[in-house]
Amino acid sequence: MPLKLRVLGLRPRQRKLFEKLIQRDHHFGGVSLIATGQMGSGKTTLLQKLAWGIWNIYPEEVIIWRGMFSCQWTNFLELKMPVRLIYIGPEPIAVNPYTGDPVFLAELAELKPCSDINEVLGALGPDRVNVVYLWAPDPVSFTKSWLDLFEALVSRPHGWVSIFFDELEDLAPSSSVGELWAQVERAARIIKEFRKRLISFYAASQVYSDVDYRVFRKFQWQAYLRGARVPRGSRLWQKAVDALKTGWLWLVGGGEYTTYPFAPVPLGPPVLITNYK
Ligand SMILES: Nc1ncnc2c1ncn2[C@@H]1O[C@H](COP(=O)(O)OP(=O)(O)OP(=O)(O)O)[C@@H](O)[C@H]1O
Ligand SMILES: [Mg+2]
Repeated sequence: MPLKLRVLGLRPRQRKLFEKLIQRDHHFGGVSLIATGQMGSGKTTLLQKLAWGIWNIYPEEVIIWRGMFSCQWTNFLELKMPVRLIYIGPEPIAVNPYTGDPVFLAELAELKPCSDINEVLGALGPDRVNVVYLWAPDPVSFTKSWLDLFEALVSRPHGWVSIFFDELEDLAPSSSVGELWAQVERAARIIKEFRKRLISFYAASQVYSDVDYRVFRKFQWQAYLRGARVPRGSRLWQKAVDALKTGWLWLVGGGEYTTYPFAPVPLGPPVLITNYK
């Protein structure tokens, strides 16, 4: 892999970061990372940059990107990564957030309406970035439907898969009670299986404490970006994170504590999907 990273034109420090975060080794299995940092610190950018690295180095890998209200997946188009928009639910309604003008999604992505998780699995492929929207009327069904997809992935044989889940607190909020609490317990159980099943999981959230601890502690790597809060008891100093500038992070995991730079990505067309969370 180091050779291929050189082809991507990454500077040596960034290459080291990528070597750790997107290594693919059957003995080790899937990689997991959670990035935290204040608004605008570059969490989404970091996830997109990692997806770009995977796309260029492992052409057989299936990349799943959580679709959200604010469609930062349009940045993939600027990175020359075609998008497949897979959804269960109503046809996504897209507008330009500045003008309110309608945006025609079929001009930006291949659209794949699905009626259940099985169809979603059938629609996934390595030829495009798979942006998945699962419509849900409330937080419990949101978490449930994503976990159904995760569970289906875990239980079926497949090659390498990477899941990118921005704003992880939507899936596993720390303040859950009742049925949602039980679903978060299920999330922790399923995510634990990812590594052995060659599924890599890259997530982000503004503050670590917004994500349920049962899920947070399943991540092998933590990336702290500008303005991140460091959990109590961590060997990383809060002051060290407070000194970060945009475009830098502290990577913590496996006994390692190192700062790395990461590069911005080009911005795609501004689009909002108004009928999905
Ligand atoms: N490495 C970087 N170098 C320079 N600028 C960057 C870098 N990463 C991100 N930016 C810029 O910072 C802005 C915010 O980035 P991004 O949306 O990734 O942040 P975020 O942490 O996901 O924010 P939010 O919490 O609002 O979702 C963008 O305009 C982006 O271009
Ligand atoms: Mg973001």
